[in-house]
Parts: sequence; structure tokens; C-alpha cells
Amino acid sequence: MELISIKSPNEIRLMRRAGRVTAQARALAGSMVRPGVSTLEIDHAVRKFIESQGGTPSFLNYAGYPGSACISVNDVVIHGIPSRHIVLREGDIVSVDVGACIDGFHGDCAATYACGRISDEARRLIEVTQQSFWEGIQFARVGYRVSDISHAVQAYVEPFGYSLVRDYVGHGVGAKLHEPPEVPNFGPAGHGPRLMAGMTLAVEPMVNQGTWEIQVMKDGWTVKTADGKLAAHYENSILITDGDPEVLTVTEDGAYV
Ligand code: MF3
Ligand code: CO
Repeated sequence: MELISIKSPNEIRLMRRAGRVTAQARALAGSMVRPGVSTLEIDHAVRKFIESQGGTPSFLNYAGYPGSACISVNDVVIHGIPSRHIVLREGDIVSVDVGACIDGFHGDCAATYACGRISDEARRLIEVTQQSFWEGIQFARVGYRVSDISHAVQAYVEPFGYSLVRDYVGHGVGAKLHEPPEVPNFGPAGHGPRLMAGMTLAVEPMVNQGTWEIQVMKDGWTVKTADGKLAAHYENSILITDGDPEVLTVTEDGAYV
């Protein structure tokens, strides 16, 4: 089994820088979400911004992925491929997932944005998904195990009648976009690796309005809810410390979306 890397103080400084650029790219993408904009336009802006900061988009060409961001509309859970044919409409909910690599270290984050006015149900789904991340990372501390985070996310979300995607999970992040350990968003507490200061994790609840079951489209990437209901996503890269977890994917202004 591959070991979980513990980042050195210098590596942590580099992770903070990558995290800041990634969060700024997410905020830029979010600010572009409005009716009439294509998901490809947002993708191009993300790429230009990351490159202007001396970075490279982590997802571009990853396992053949063709975009710089994943942009997932309504019943698309994750891995929506940006396209000039996908034009946002009033009432859509739009999940944007971005990664940036700077000086050898990755940041990875995502959030779901409203396109114009959205339904109350859609807004509640987005809010519960975001809050589930904060509930989960209350356990992102020395003395707990990975699945304590997983369990806290699930325990918060399910009473709302929503479900957690099983087929995709959070992960360690660092010199590679995906490192051990896996960080599921469901399961019993008290399992998995013990958390140690210097670990960096991407915690990313994917929450479905209906069933947790998903379907991968024929393009090999686009993941949709099996029942066609809405899905939301929220992700940040975090650092385990001797105290409270530190969110690495935060903008200069302190924004987490
Ligand atoms: N944030 C996603 C993840 O953590 C994005 C990966 S998309 C890919 O896995 F294109 F890079 F595969
Ligand atoms: Co991720």
C-alpha cells in the first residue's frame, strides 16, 4: 500500500500557494455563471488565469481529460466536459471543479453556483452540500481517522432526504492530484488511516437530490444522476495541523466559493 505523504513546512507553503490560485480560479469561474455563457468560455477563462499565475491546469490531459475545469450542470454530478454547445440557462445549477499545479504541487476545489434565479429546492441542495464539508472537517484533526470525516458528512446530509455518491470519493492531494488515502463521503466512523499533522486532503461531498446511483455517459467522463434529479458538489483541499484544519483553497480575500 502506498504511504500517505506528510508535507514538510516548505511543501506546505507551496500547497498554500497552489490552493490560493485554485480557489481564485474557482471564484472566477463562479463569477462567470450566468444565462447565455457556454461552459467552454468558463473553461478557457480558468485556463488563462491559472497560466497567468505560472501554473498549469491539473485536469487538462489527466487520463485524457480534455478540459481545464469540470463543469457539471443540473443532473450532471461531476466531470462535465466544457463545450461551446452547453449554454447556461436561468435556473441551472452549475458545479465547477478546478485544479491547478504550481511549482509541483496541486490545489483541487469545487463549488456549485446558481445561474440567475434558481428554485428553493436547488438552493437548499447547494447549501446542504457546502455545509456537509464543514461538518466533515470538524473531524479533520489529529486523534481522528479518515472515516470520521466520511461519517460526519453522511450523518449531516441524509436527514435532508439527499444521498451521497458512492462511486467517487475525496483523496489525498499534493505533488500528485490524487494521492492516498481515499476519503469517502459515507460509511461508519472510526475506520481508515489515522489523521496526522502535515497530511493534505481533498474533501469533496457529491450530494444527490434523489438516489446515490450514477451513470457514466458514453463520452467516458460525464457522470449523471441515475434518476435525472439534481446534484451538487463542494470541495476544498485542506491541511491537517496540530489544531484546527487549514483550508488551503481559499482566495486572497478569504472566499471559500
Ligand atoms: N476534482 C476532481 C477529482 O478530484 C477532478 C478530477 S477530473 C480529471 O478527482 F479530469 F482530472 F480527472
Ligand atoms: Co478532487
